[in-house]
Amino acid sequence: MTTRRLVLTRSAAVIGAASTGLLLPQFARAQSDKVRVGFMLPYTGTFAQLGVAIENGFRMALNEQGGKLGGREVEFFKVDDESNPAKGIENATRLVQRDKVDVLVGTVHSGVQMGIHKVARDTGVLSLIPNAGVHIATRAQCAPNVFRTSFTNSQPTLALGKAMMERGHKKAVWITWNYAAGEEAYEGFEKSYTEAGGTIIKKLGLPFPNVEFQALLTEIASLNPDAVACFFAGGGAAKFLRDFAAAGLNKNIQLYGSGFLTEGVLDAAGPAADGVLTTMHYSDSLDTPRNKKFRLDYAKTFRMQPDVYAVQGYDTGLLLIKGANAVKGDLNNKPALYAAMNGAEIDSPRGKWKMSAAHNPIQDMYLRKVENKENKVIGIAQKAVADPATGCRMA
Ligand code: PHB
Repeated sequence: MTTRRLVLTRSAAVIGAASTGLLLPQFARAQSDKVRVGFMLPYTGTFAQLGVAIENGFRMALNEQGGKLGGREVEFFKVDDESNPAKGIENATRLVQRDKVDVLVGTVHSGVQMGIHKVARDTGVLSLIPNAGVHIATRAQCAPNVFRTSFTNSQPTLALGKAMMERGHKKAVWITWNYAAGEEAYEGFEKSYTEAGGTIIKKLGLPFPNVEFQALLTEIASLNPDAVACFFAGGGAAKFLRDFAAAGLNKNIQLYGSGFLTEGVLDAAGPAADGVLTTMHYSDSLDTPRNKKFRLDYAKTFRMQPDVYAVQGYDTGLLLIKGANAVKGDLNNKPALYAAMNGAEIDSPRGKWKMSAAHNPIQDMYLRKVENKENKVIGIAQKAVADPATGCRMA
């Protein structure tokens, strides 16, 4: 090959590279490349179904916009976090460093969230929390790049105590898994129940994700409370509902819970869940056009019924769409991106909610009763519940 031909060939290669964007300046490339979204969710273990529902909901929100974010195509990356806190930092780092995601969507388990949170604070990557309610993420360690679309662990239970006392259940036993979510759900329960005049006669617990409930159920029977209140979720919640009924406790003791107890598990729990009362920011039976359309579209797309996790995933998508549209897809424009998401109002299947200054939803809590495998709304337990956001100072 002559020198001239070599030069021409090289030039052609350079032009080719430029036209595919390889040699464009960084800012131009950021506009034309795909937005990289990383799902860090549980796809195995007791919370596996929760992870799937969140991802489904998120994808549904984007699909309603032609699958784009601020006009840009989207590429997805996935890591199964196994609800294992020991691998939290490593898994989040993999998505940020190796996959170079622009936004991390995750996760379910509060302990794993702390790993994601460290990586988000260290790297500044946009972190959207579609479930895990760990308080500190929107309290003392709140951050401009971290937004939660779900709840804090004590939000649902802050609405529980009064509802229990109004039904004359004055003596209660609390039971949960011993980890952040259970401890913090207890915090809300203790405050609302004792302020309403209730007495907590015993606090019981077992390690996450243990489901050997028998000895604890025997202890509950001997304590003979008016009510049991609890935090369990996913596969473990279905097992708790079945074991509680199988031990005959549902005949004389009213079971209450943070609403996760009866989310996505009603087929697995069957009649054992009938009559259980919970407080939660969503209900299948919300009689609004928004919820009905969401439920129909979700069922048609995924051939399964949505639950609160699907709604939270969907709302995470809606929030990101709001942000991305405001910056026309330039997610590097962080001040404008965060400004659009901070204080955003989300038109959710759960009802409209607003993002607080600490980046956590301010939302109504419904009182629900399980009837025929459905969480039926029987009232609003508390309107516009906001987390106290103790110690949050946005940098
Ligand atoms: C949590 O660990 O924060 C958590 C897990 C499952 C739920 C709710 C909260 O359903």
